Formats: sequence, C-alpha cells, structure tokens
Amino acid sequence: MLKFSSMTGNEIRNKFLTYFERNGHKIVASSPLLPANDPTLLFTNAGMNQFKDVFLGNEKRDYKRAVTSQKCIRAGGKHNDLDEVGKTARHHTFFEMLGNFSFGDYFKEDAIKYAWEFLVDELKLEKSRLWFSVFEGDDEVGPDEEARDLWIKVGASPDRVLGFGRKVNFWQMGDTGPCGPCSEVHYYMGDDPLDPQKNRAEFVNGPGDTTMEIWNLVFMQYNRTQNEDGTFALTPLPAPSVDTGMGLERIAAVMQNVKTNYETDLIKPIVEYTASLAKVK
Ligand code: ALA
Repeated sequence: MLKFSSMTGNEIRNKFLTYFERNGHKIVASSPLLPANDPTLLFTNAGMNQFKDVFLGNEKRDYKRAVTSQKCIRAGGKHNDLDEVGKTARHHTFFEMLGNFSFGDYFKEDAIKYAWEFLVDELKLEKSRLWFSVFEGDDEVGPDEEARDLWIKVGASPDRVLGFGRKVNFWQMGDTGPCGPCSEVHYYMGDDPLDPQKNRAEFVNGPGDTTMEIWNLVFMQYNRTQNEDGTFALTPLPAPSVDTGMGLERIAAVMQNVKTNYETDLIKPIVEYTASLAKVK
C-alpha cells in the first residue's frame, strides 16, 4: 500500500512553487502557449522557453533562480506527444510543467539535492520506487559520472542509477538552442515496491506505464547552432545552468495513486463535464 496521503493538483503545484521559493527561487508566471519572439517554436514546449535568452546570456534578469508551473503543448516539432495520446496513460499534448531554474548560479549538485529533497522529504515518496537515469556519453559529450555519484551521495541506491544514451539523456528544446546532458527521475507505480519482477530496471524507459518518468533535470551547458552548410555545432553557454521539468499531471497521478493522468483531479472533471455535454458516460 502507498503510505502518503493524497494531494490535489493545486496543492502539489503550490508545494513545488513554495519549496523552491524557500530555497531562493523567484516564482515566475507561466508564459503564454504561443512563444513571444521565437521563430524556432510554434508552441511553448517546456518551462525553459521563456528563459532561453537568459541561458544564452543575451538577457539579464534581476534573479538567478526561478520556479514556474508552465503551460506546455507538445503536438509537433522536436517534442511531439501527439502520437502517444490514447496509447499511454501519461501523454496528453497539453500539460503543466513544474520547473526550477538556475541561470549560472547552482549546478548539478544542488539541482540533484533539491530534486531528492522535494520528492523524498516533501512529497514523502518511497525511495524504493524511485529510479534515476544519467547520460552515458557518446562521441560528442562524455558520460555524466558526476550526476551518477551525486544521486548516490544524496541517498539513491547505486543499482537504481542507470545510464542511457542521447535519445533520453541529452535534452535540447529544438534543433538549435540551449542544451545539455540530463538526468531523469522515474517512479514505479505498482502495488508492491518489493516485487522484484515488476519494480525492475528494464521498465525504466521500457514497456508499459507502471514505471514512468516524472522529472527531468537538464544540466544546461551548451548552445546548439546551425552552420551555413547545414551541420550543427555545440558551443559552451556563458555559465553552466539548470533547467528542470516535472509533469504536474504525472506527479498528481503518483500522489493520488491513480493509474492514468486522466484520472487525476486535474483532468477527470474536464472529461466528466465533456461527457455530460455530450450526454454520454
Ligand atoms: N526542459 C526539460 C524538459 O522539457 C526539463 O524535459
């Protein structure tokens, strides 16, 4: 049985914003779904979009740490969830992304410490349900052994920290823009965390919805640009930075102990209202 008590989506959002505010982050409002001044994006696809120029060093703000709950649409472009809708329990193209950001202030160590503290100490998630992924490196960027060590330092069991390649553990907002290796937190939602058949490494980025990604921590270190001949290049950002994103509806499904995001208090009333308008069950 899950031990924690249920929280509403609004309570989770507030808890996230106030936890990071207590830790020196400025609460910034969600930007609109149509990004201002960014021809590379049709819809806002991540919390970091509104801070793109801050990461690139082209814009200064009067804060170096921010926290948001950002409205996002992933229905096209580099991050496209459209083809997953109806097939998984966790994709729905429109969602809210909870994120904390550091603009050349803290980096990996504190990003990992905050994520662990929020999940384990604030939300009281069981450690035995959590899995962590780190970038295993490729020809362009080396393996992120530091992130692995830091997860273990905060309390993760070494066998629960797994390496993956570029597809899952290197994040960029589009073909160009700020990017870097990332580290994800996955959560096993099954009944018994001690079930060795089900709570297994193979299900992290594997089949089914029982183990799902809940939070992605991106260690922003590069800008990807396109050369005149069409090839792409990586140049270091002015300062290493942090960009994270946790799906509000996913963490709500975890906290409310329901099997799909559609059953959370954030989405279920909309489905029920629509059904009543359509006069169907
Ligand atoms: N920008 C990162 C993502 O969308 C956090 O996964």
